[in-house]
Amino acid sequence: MTTAFREHVRAAYGSAIGQKRGELVTPALILDLDAARRNIAFMAERMRTMPARLRPHVKVQKSLELAKLQVEAGAIGVCTATVWEAIIMSRAGIEDVLIANEVCGRGKVKALAQAAKEGRLTVAVDDALNAADLSDAASAAGSALEVLIEVDVGMGRGGVRSPEDAVDLARRVDELPGLRLRGVQGYEGHCMHERDRSARGEKAQAAMAYLGEVIDRLAAAGFECEAVSAGGTGTYDITGANPRVTEIQAGSYVFMDNFHANLVPGFSHALTVLGTVMSRHGETIVLDSGRKSIGIDFVPPTMVEYPFYQARYFAEEHALFDTDGRCKLRLGDTVELIPGYAPTTVNLYDAYHVVEDGVVVDIWPIIPRGPGHGGILAA
Ligand SMILES: Cc1ncc(COP(=O)(O)O)c(C=O)c1O
Repeated sequence: MTTAFREHVRAAYGSAIGQKRGELVTPALILDLDAARRNIAFMAERMRTMPARLRPHVKVQKSLELAKLQVEAGAIGVCTATVWEAIIMSRAGIEDVLIANEVCGRGKVKALAQAAKEGRLTVAVDDALNAADLSDAASAAGSALEVLIEVDVGMGRGGVRSPEDAVDLARRVDELPGLRLRGVQGYEGHCMHERDRSARGEKAQAAMAYLGEVIDRLAAAGFECEAVSAGGTGTYDITGANPRVTEIQAGSYVFMDNFHANLVPGFSHALTVLGTVMSRHGETIVLDSGRKSIGIDFVPPTMVEYPFYQARYFAEEHALFDTDGRCKLRLGDTVELIPGYAPTTVNLYDAYHVVEDGVVVDIWPIIPRGPGHGGILAA
């Protein structure tokens, strides 16, 4: 299924190869490969100065090509949000894949257990019932799953809610066939919304101090954590400097959208959406790149050439900007936008137009695009 989809996408969009980035049919997703390579190299260089290793979160980019570049630059593997992303990565030869999330539901658990026959897969758990389901499925498939206990370190999403619960769950996992306890995950996602770096640092350190307490309680109960997985782009250099953390799950650094650019310096914008001016009245311009074309979560997209204009709003197929005399855009002109949030941009497209020196050099599929299995179950 992966190969057929990749061939379909290349055939569908391949005619863009050789075109200039500003001449594509819009809305079009553009990956500036030089900028992405710089981001990967910069992160790899920064991580070399820290005790933790990098395990990039690929839900951001859903691209095998980018994942391979990240691994070549020193990443220890990847992490994913969904079981389907994990299966795609594992089948393509990424050797150590973590689903940084719980996998629940019979069909997904079965698919995970089957896939674990062919590659090393680790999954987060925060509940004994789920652990039992994973164990049953792994036993039935004749596979083995590795497990991280997810600890809620302040975000209030997944994760056990106390050190006692972590120890109880570790004991349960330890008894279950087909599961091997590898450590803990404590994603401090609540810190990513703190723009002030020192306040973010304090929050992230408090979250990791709590995770450290949980690790100590597990060790006292006989469970050593070989893997301690945490961190994101907004905290990579804070959490990555913590000697107890073994791996950092940053993902968005590879594209650097507007949301993350407010948090950390040193990275370039590598992902844009090309839009066309479809209507202009006075100083108001309307682009064809609305919210079905670009992720607007948390902070709005901005125009690369005109970063000082804030969008009035993003309708489904329209983006409205109130401009002034500085704006030279006319009807039919194209303009690139930096997404507010890259992870909810990429899933809107089949493929990246991969650009080097301003020209499309390749088409890279986005797979699996949606949250579902996208055909994996049919393969
Ligand atoms: C569990 C987990 N880890 C890591 C990340 C990566 O965050 P970022 O893309 O901000 O680097 C996320 C993002 O939502 C996440 O949910």
